[in-house]
Amino acid sequence: MAQRFAPATPKFPHMLHGGDYNPEQWLDQPEVLEEDIRLFRKAHINCVSLGIFSWAKLEPEEGVYDFGWLDEIIDRLYANGIYTVLATPSGARPQWLAQKYPEVLRVRPDGLRNFYGHRQNHCYTSPLYREKVTQIDTLLAEHYANHPAVILWHISNEFGGECHCELCQAAFREWVQKKYGTLDKLNHAWWANFWSHTYTDWSQVHSPSPVGETSVHGLDLDWRRFVTHQTIDFMKTEIAAVKAVNPDIPVTTNMMTMYTYELNYFAFRDALDVISWDNYPEWHNPYMGNEEVAKDCAMTHDMMRSLQKKPFLLMECTPNATNWQGVSKLKKPGMHQLSVIEAVAHGADSGQYFQLRQSRGSCEKFHSAVISNTGTENTRTFREVTDIGTVLEQLSDRVYGSGTPAETAILFDTENKWALDKCQGPRNIGLDYFGNIRRNYSYFWKNGINVDIIDSTFDLSGYKLVIAPMLYLFRDGIQEKLRRFVRDGGTLVTTCFTGVVNDTDLSFLGEATGDKLSDVLGLWVEEVDSLYDCESNRTTWNGKSYSLKELCEICHPTTCETLAVYETDFYAGKPVLTKNQFGKGVAYHVSASADTDFFHALYAKLAAACDLTYAIRTAVPDGISLTWRQSDTEKLIFVQNFGDSAAAVQLDQPYENVLSGETVSGSLNIEKYGFAVLAKQI
Ligand code: GLA
Ligand code: ZN
Repeated sequence: MAQRFAPATPKFPHMLHGGDYNPEQWLDQPEVLEEDIRLFRKAHINCVSLGIFSWAKLEPEEGVYDFGWLDEIIDRLYANGIYTVLATPSGARPQWLAQKYPEVLRVRPDGLRNFYGHRQNHCYTSPLYREKVTQIDTLLAEHYANHPAVILWHISNEFGGECHCELCQAAFREWVQKKYGTLDKLNHAWWANFWSHTYTDWSQVHSPSPVGETSVHGLDLDWRRFVTHQTIDFMKTEIAAVKAVNPDIPVTTNMMTMYTYELNYFAFRDALDVISWDNYPEWHNPYMGNEEVAKDCAMTHDMMRSLQKKPFLLMECTPNATNWQGVSKLKKPGMHQLSVIEAVAHGADSGQYFQLRQSRGSCEKFHSAVISNTGTENTRTFREVTDIGTVLEQLSDRVYGSGTPAETAILFDTENKWALDKCQGPRNIGLDYFGNIRRNYSYFWKNGINVDIIDSTFDLSGYKLVIAPMLYLFRDGIQEKLRRFVRDGGTLVTTCFTGVVNDTDLSFLGEATGDKLSDVLGLWVEEVDSLYDCESNRTTWNGKSYSLKELCEICHPTTCETLAVYETDFYAGKPVLTKNQFGKGVAYHVSASADTDFFHALYAKLAAACDLTYAIRTAVPDGISLTWRQSDTEKLIFVQNFGDSAAAVQLDQPYENVLSGETVSGSLNIEKYGFAVLAKQI
């Protein structure tokens, strides 16, 4: 079996199918475990995530441990061929712990300490919390890290949020002091002389708060960087505890979406062995078609894969409806399988769920599960889960560990997102960074050109095309990286509101400066017009007319060539699309928030100019998205239909249909919410 990447889970090197399992809720009914095992086997479930919220059962009183129940469950599952992804229980702590040590409870931005409750509601700085977590993690590792069933550590659960307690304030001050060294440097970086907010003592440094400082944007950025740093530091203490016992069991933590407010996930990548995430899209919603939903999912899958440029795990998705979205809709027949396949198509080596058995009470009792409270396998959800379990089993030998080579990268930078969220002007009703990314991503998603989603800290060599939509904040060093990329022959695309501020949110000075990449783009920007939602400008390029919304920059070409211009308003005739030869490469700039069609046209041209690899060279019908993975011996093409009717894809040559074993050629029909995996030898 040819593999490109070392297995994510070496002890069980196969596509994982399973998910969160909370048997601690059912310990007084042993027949439940019995039945669950029978049903897991029937549904082709080969792994379960255990212990995520089990701390109160593992340590019912301080220093009193009970692992017997978990021993039995792990052993029984293993005897039935089911492996364990074992969690550290730090995501939710027991009542006794918070009652005895209130410092573990999180403090809100307004200074109020939370009561006990909920989860991920603790202070990541508290030495006491770290000590208690390390104790239980160490004991768990001593007990299970050499168990043959345990294949992966699931560190905590969905890290998130921030704490404003005195311990965190002290840690933040230390972090800031280390970063800046002197108060002069700090005051300059944060432009603190504005409104007389000059810091005269380090003790004045305090986290942003709605009842305190919200106006210093540099402070805000640094606070978010600190929260990310502190969360990773906390996670690393957990990783150290489990690795001390057996360094060979890989670690992961389950992330959320790509635009999480608090955390910069890119900064997590070096601390983990495997990236995993939890995907909860709103399929079948009335305001955004399934194709758009699928595009957003794909983009996040691509980002998760790009973090370590290797296969990741889909740690959670819902088997049917969630219970926490505004309207928790059922997944219509077929959508569950298709959405799992979409993850695999973009580089996942698993399909895992929240949850395997439904809770009977508390706030998630209406969340769907593989085994619902009806207790029967005679459900649509169970059948669809079983079907995709069978598919994953069939695909495993061919797909597991295969790569997703990308010649194109889109820069999505979390620090840039933070800065844009805060920037006050030019359009406070929304700069829509995410929408800008999505519009640039769309062509590639649709047509089967693989894309990495990376941030400003990544190496750009090896890419043919790099797209940096709305990269307002230039983190240190990104100018030189982009400059070298173009000079060496790469193609760069930037869009409006790029290169406005530096790493600490200070505006760059001067008109045509290298700080703003003016040399590479061959232009400088004089003004930016903001449009109301009901307004638009237009441009015509290659005979087609496109709508421009939100932001319109007024640029002055220096060395660039103008390819398209504004058609209305006082800046009619000014450039919308420019092209600048720089060194061996070329840089394009799109000076307004152009529509998706515009970017489809632009990238169709650039894909040809850069000779990018397509999954299949074909006209892709509505509803269909293509992508591909590659092992040492074959290219695997995923044809997915998110549309509401069947669609036919014209194949450019005969392929093996991996699931049916047949050779397919000519026109390949894909049912509504259907998919096919095609293979060709390389
Ligand atoms: C998250 C959590 C799970 C569960 C699901 C519900 O992803 O990690 O514990 O709450 O959401 O959708
Ligand atoms: Zn704290």
